Amino acid sequence: MSDESGQSAGAKVNTRRLHVITWGCQMNVYDSTRMTDVLAPLGYAPAEAPDGADMVILNTCHIRDRAAEKVFSELGRLRLLKQAREAEGGRMILAVAGCVAQAEGAEILARAPYVDIVLGPQTYHRLPEMVARASRAAGAVIATDFPAEDKFDHLPEASAPSGPTAFLTIQEGCDKFCSFCVVPYTRGAEQSRPLGAVVAEARRLVALGAREITLLGQNVNAWHGEGPHGPSTLGHLVRALAEIPDLARIRYTTSHPRDMDDDLIAAHAEVPQLMPFLHLPVQSGADRILAAMNRRHTAADYLRLIDRLRAARPDLALSSDFIVGHPGETEADFAATMALIERVGFAQAFSFKYSPRPGTPAAGAPTQVPEAEKDRRLQALQALLREQQAAFNADCVGRTVDVLVTGPGRRPGQIGGRTPWLQPVHADGPDGLAGRIVRVKIVAAHQNSLSATLLPHPQEQERTQA
Ligand code: 5AD
Ligand code: SF4
Repeated sequence: MSDESGQSAGAKVNTRRLHVITWGCQMNVYDSTRMTDVLAPLGYAPAEAPDGADMVILNTCHIRDRAAEKVFSELGRLRLLKQAREAEGGRMILAVAGCVAQAEGAEILARAPYVDIVLGPQTYHRLPEMVARASRAAGAVIATDFPAEDKFDHLPEASAPSGPTAFLTIQEGCDKFCSFCVVPYTRGAEQSRPLGAVVAEARRLVALGAREITLLGQNVNAWHGEGPHGPSTLGHLVRALAEIPDLARIRYTTSHPRDMDDDLIAAHAEVPQLMPFLHLPVQSGADRILAAMNRRHTAADYLRLIDRLRAARPDLALSSDFIVGHPGETEADFAATMALIERVGFAQAFSFKYSPRPGTPAAGAPTQVPEAEKDRRLQALQALLREQQAAFNADCVGRTVDVLVTGPGRRPGQIGGRTPWLQPVHADGPDGLAGRIVRVKIVAAHQNSLSATLLPHPQEQERTQA
């Protein structure tokens, strides 16, 4: 996740210049590339900066605090560039996409009437038509409905991945309605792409150079795409993807504990390409709070699941999401979360202070936790998670590990890549190894990464991972 910082996508200049600013999860990053793809036939090519662009898209995230405010302050900045462009006799089309657009479309048009297009995540395939309408007329074009047609049927083929790792959205939306979360409202009901379409896109990505594919979905393990014999399962999809030669690594994110079925757990034991790293949000370790959150699992259910996953794949490393200060959370509830963390031992995690999202059930609860208390709990929780991450990284020192080289390292003469457990690794090494799986020895651990030495004779490890 990269919720706190905007990311920009861009490259060469063509007839029209498109600048996309992306906030939020990997699904938004994927969506931004698909919006870029859908606009390419109209002559739009990515631009590094918004200055002088013919179109700027803000792909927004609504999941936590200050999301809308960030969007409005960015819009204020872009308004000046849009005016400058008009003063030169040009036009900059300004579009707001993503979950803030879905949730607050009317508010955006009221506060920023210079915005030309507001579109929700399910309507990206309509972007060319909306751009055409916006180019012809003054006044905003808005699409925040949940159309009956599937956008994936109407989007062009995905463009080439920018390196050996690629993302592939297989599922969108969520039916779980956790008390704190806007996703079921902004992304709508769960929808799965069909098995054949996913496998075909994966084959294309591999043909274009991907060695690792991360399957994406708000509730990815609830995927039930249509297959030849009816609705399929994620375990089945993973096995189907493992048949693709040259696809060395498969990952999936984000999962819900309730949707971890026996077959998916078995896939972790049986499919070597399925990497031994799982992001499985638990949110809290207190049953009272898990019930208030409408999570539909207890702390014991989660721990049992972890035990089963570790029995299937003993080297499995775990990641999670935590919320502190959900309405009603007492000191004892918080202690239960700390105890769960101690019991599991996480390789990494994301943790947040609860922030009320308008329209969600928890936002109106009378038992809001004071801000200072949330701060204190978050600091204690993050200190423990940092300790666990450092311990996990330190444990790798001295081990021989397979690394997928993703490109150059931090310094000249270095390569950079990822371990099976998703840790970034740097090692001295030659150019030209990107996309190869090389064997390294880990020599030092840092908070968020590892240093390594490349072992002689880098070998392709097609199917066996350390
Ligand atoms: N407040 C704080 N954190 C939240 N998340 C989702 N909604 C909220 C909220 N209202 C966190 C959850 C989720 C992650 C993507 O963001 O931990 O798993
Ligand atoms: Fe939000 Fe809960 Fe759905 Fe995850 S499972 S997207 S937290 S409602």
